[in-house]
Amino acid sequence: MAIKPLFQETMPFRSFRLSLRFILPLALVVGLFAYAVVPLVDGMTQRWFVRDLDARSQMLAGALQGPLFDYLPQGSQSKIIQLLDRSVQQDGRLFALALCDADGAMIQKTVMFPAALRCPATQTSNELRQAVMKLPQGSLHVTESPLVLDSQYLGNLILVHDMGFIEKRSAETRQYIIALFALLAVVISLITVFIAHMSWRGWISAVKGILRREAVARPQSNPSSEIRPLVGDLRALLHELNVERRVQASAPQPWSPERLRTLLHDELAGDEILVVSNREPYIHTHTAKGIEVKRPASGLVTAVEPVMRACSGTWIAHGSGDADRDTVDRNDRVAVPPKRPAYTLRRVWMSKDEEQGYYYGFANEGLWPLCHIAHVRPVFRSSDWDQYVAINQRFADAVVNEAHTDDPVVLVQDYHFALLPAMVRGKLPKATIIMFWHIPWPNPESFGICPWREEILEGLLGSTILGFHTPFHCKNFLETVDRYLEARIEYEDSTISYGGDLTQVEPYPISIAWPDAAEQPDIAECRADIRKNLGLPANHLLGIGVDRLDYTKGIIERFQAVETMLERQPSMVGRFTLVQIAAPSRSSLEEYQNFESRVRLLVDRINQRFGSDRYVPIILKIEHHESDQVNRYYRAADVCLVTSLHDGMNLVAKEFIAARDDDRGVLVLSQFTGAARELHEALIVNPYHIEQSADALYRALTMPEMEQCERMHSMRSLVKDFNIYRWAGHMLLDAARLRRRAQVSAKIRSHSRKSLRRVV
Ligand code: F6P
Repeated sequence: MAIKPLFQETMPFRSFRLSLRFILPLALVVGLFAYAVVPLVDGMTQRWFVRDLDARSQMLAGALQGPLFDYLPQGSQSKIIQLLDRSVQQDGRLFALALCDADGAMIQKTVMFPAALRCPATQTSNELRQAVMKLPQGSLHVTESPLVLDSQYLGNLILVHDMGFIEKRSAETRQYIIALFALLAVVISLITVFIAHMSWRGWISAVKGILRREAVARPQSNPSSEIRPLVGDLRALLHELNVERRVQASAPQPWSPERLRTLLHDELAGDEILVVSNREPYIHTHTAKGIEVKRPASGLVTAVEPVMRACSGTWIAHGSGDADRDTVDRNDRVAVPPKRPAYTLRRVWMSKDEEQGYYYGFANEGLWPLCHIAHVRPVFRSSDWDQYVAINQRFADAVVNEAHTDDPVVLVQDYHFALLPAMVRGKLPKATIIMFWHIPWPNPESFGICPWREEILEGLLGSTILGFHTPFHCKNFLETVDRYLEARIEYEDSTISYGGDLTQVEPYPISIAWPDAAEQPDIAECRADIRKNLGLPANHLLGIGVDRLDYTKGIIERFQAVETMLERQPSMVGRFTLVQIAAPSRSSLEEYQNFESRVRLLVDRINQRFGSDRYVPIILKIEHHESDQVNRYYRAADVCLVTSLHDGMNLVAKEFIAARDDDRGVLVLSQFTGAARELHEALIVNPYHIEQSADALYRALTMPEMEQCERMHSMRSLVKDFNIYRWAGHMLLDAARLRRRAQVSAKIRSHSRKSLRRVV
């Protein structure tokens, strides 16, 4: 559960809170000092008083000796006792007196004389003896004063002083000292807070001055010496904000590889870029013709590869091809793309068992169905989790090994590496870690069934930036953290503070690289070739579906929509065919095998129902297709069907649009894809509503050219601007901003600490 602030902190309250940081330690120091000083002062004043009593007793004894030397030889007991009583009455501090004879017998004593005190046995010396004694009635000062007349020892006069008044005065002195120290603490604190406040205000106004001057592009007048060390960083920060503003203001200028490269050069100059993903961008395999290189069917690869071409760096991925080990150097690295190397691919190996647990098990039987609402139950096994943890650690170690600096920019891709950000953060605390989650993030209740939900959230919160495709997925994530972790969430800023780290959660809708029109094959040629190869007449209406063979893609629902459309619109029978390209995917999992069987059975049934010797309603191609082959299908088709039951973005929709530089063709798009939030001119459908999809398909096939053109034109201009370089550019700009901000605030912190230390 997140801890939310109960109230908004006001300025005076914040000043008071900051002042307490100085006052409390100061009060502690003054308190400790008082604690040590009070006993010292106490002891000293006691010694002074005792010395005072010694002198007093001596004087009193001297004054009494004269009359006693007269009365003693006379044996005048009544005069002696009168003398002693009078002396006690007249002297308020004298507690009691007693007179002893030469044999040590007490011959007279006043009433209060303590019974515990005895006469000295014999004459020991002619000197005064003084002592402080603790008796039940309190501390007493006792003086034995020998009475010696003409060398004859006559006895001893015992004077007893009550020391109660000394203790009273000591207590009073103690109180005065404590009060004095308290007053001192208050005065020093107030002066300190006042000076700190004044210098803080001066410092802040100096910073504001710089910001204002920079904002209006006025040259910097002489900044105060206090602020001088920060001027460079503040300027850099402002420059960065200006760049960002310019970037936003210059929206018409399209994002391109060059613009991304310039941005990297300007904003992340010299910074290392490392990408981590499970799927590698180039797979080497042994074939009859020798080693061949393949591009996998992966939205992630489609998106990230052009970025890496633009910014170089190192891409760390699982080496999954059977010829991968034969094509790397001794550090497991290979330069790619093979024809025109632009960056390094660093391969990480894993055994079949590890792949089974980490990739097939936890990632694809657990997290994949957990995050997609496709009504397939997630399966969680402890053994899979163990492999997932171990492989995340292996990739994290590879990141640390590949990093040449202690603060690289690490772009972590997808649900295979939920734990990796925190692992890398542990080893490289200064790294900027951008984690992009390519699939949807579910609501807290759905996510809550994962037995390792806290570990996954903690792993992800090692990221500096955590990206999702849509604001809705960001919201789900914030709410999930709110539900399961003790973190501080700022919903307005979309940040999460956890364990001292701050994670920015932002939507970055992924996209594709906009194709170069000059390199595109001729549309008419594509239309003719594809139809010819499929054995279809030249004017045959063609639909295209391109997906991995995955239960989230709504392939069954799509076929059912085709069936319903043919049923409802008999004129389309014999005139329309759907080509479904289905790249085999995760086929060792039972769920996927079952899915493939269901797909094949359904196609057979529909083809039997509506097909003939010369007509096949659905052509299913379960095989890998290279991207240029897929592109030819896009260009040849009249309609593209994207009917995912749930999809983070879906790049097929954007690829189809990018391929149609003739402004023709219609996109039928599921409302449950991230792409539906951007491509409003597509025919949006609920794939679970088969009749609705069937009607949309028919509408697409019969849509006037003019309408096709308007819709396609609008979507093309959007995808062209909101391309993959923009996706990467915005993430990297945010990363650069946070990097700069972290550097500046570290400097400000250390600088203000130093200033305040000087003040205190
Ligand atoms: O959709 C998530 C994702 O990682 C995509 O980016 C990619 O298209 C697909 O899954 C790849 O799946 P796999 O790597 O398992 O073949």
